[in-house]
Amino acid sequence: MKGTELPGVEQSGVTRGQGKFLPCLSYLPIPPSPYPPSPHLPTPHSPLPFEKMPVTTQQLIQWKQQKRSIVALTAWDYAIAQILDAAGVDLILVGDSMSVVLGYETTLPITLDEMLYHAKAVRRGVKRALMVVDLPFLTYQESIKQAMHSAGRVLKETGAQAVKLEGGYPAMIETIARLVQAGIPVMGHVGLTPQSVHQIGLRKQGKTQDDSERILNEAIALEQAGVFSIVLEHITADLAMQITQKLSIPTIGIGAGVYCDGQVLVTSDVLGLSEKQPPFAKVYTNLRETINKAVQEYAVEVREKKFP
Ligand code: KIV
Repeated sequence: MKGTELPGVEQSGVTRGQGKFLPCLSYLPIPPSPYPPSPHLPTPHSPLPFEKMPVTTQQLIQWKQQKRSIVALTAWDYAIAQILDAAGVDLILVGDSMSVVLGYETTLPITLDEMLYHAKAVRRGVKRALMVVDLPFLTYQESIKQAMHSAGRVLKETGAQAVKLEGGYPAMIETIARLVQAGIPVMGHVGLTPQSVHQIGLRKQGKTQDDSERILNEAIALEQAGVFSIVLEHITADLAMQITQKLSIPTIGIGAGVYCDGQVLVTSDVLGLSEKQPPFAKVYTNLRETINKAVQEYAVEVREKKFP
């Protein structure tokens, strides 16, 4: 298979937390798509009245069958979680990208205790969405026992319904199979796996025949190991389409084109809170600017004795 790039889309690897600032893609002209329209049905903006029930992992699989796109975003605190949940987001991920939200350069430094602290706050804000928490770097790769301990803490201490972990190499497949056998729902993550940044950088993955075959095989092995869904990060649209067609569990894309069963973005990118965004992110509002304006106004009013 030959990896196909979407025309006009920045291909170089720049970064959550690393490298130079790139202008938001939404400011660039959108080139015509070389692909037929997405096979998914347009999804209502907010959940329908009969969809107030909490989202389950089985429901995500049903939505794939019904060709209903899954809406996912990340959250790191109570207020953000509450707003996303009330807006009808289907899946809320406490991603280890929060490491960058907390001011670290990469996703590597964040600890399990930091993830748990924030996940508990998110839990208090989520009523409907399925809540998934990332296992941070080196809290699951060492052994099955370590993965079981970390994933168990997430489910027991935060009330999240599932964990996500990166990679599909053989040792990880065995670990995931054991977690699933123990009753822990697992979400996979292949393609660009930011915890391996020092090995693979932040470049788009799956551009060569070998690489795309490896990623496709990892996705198949992850499904066989029992994951309920897989994040496909920064891979070619072609490869994401093949994986999505091949699997019966939903694929959630980030920088992986329109053919995935759902999409996820990092909320601080979407809201314009991040100092820089990866090339595939879309900034829907600029909260940095909004907050700056509000704070300047407050400062002037305090200094000029206009407030209170
Ligand atoms: O940590 C994160 O936010 C993620 C998303 C990029 C899917 O894993």
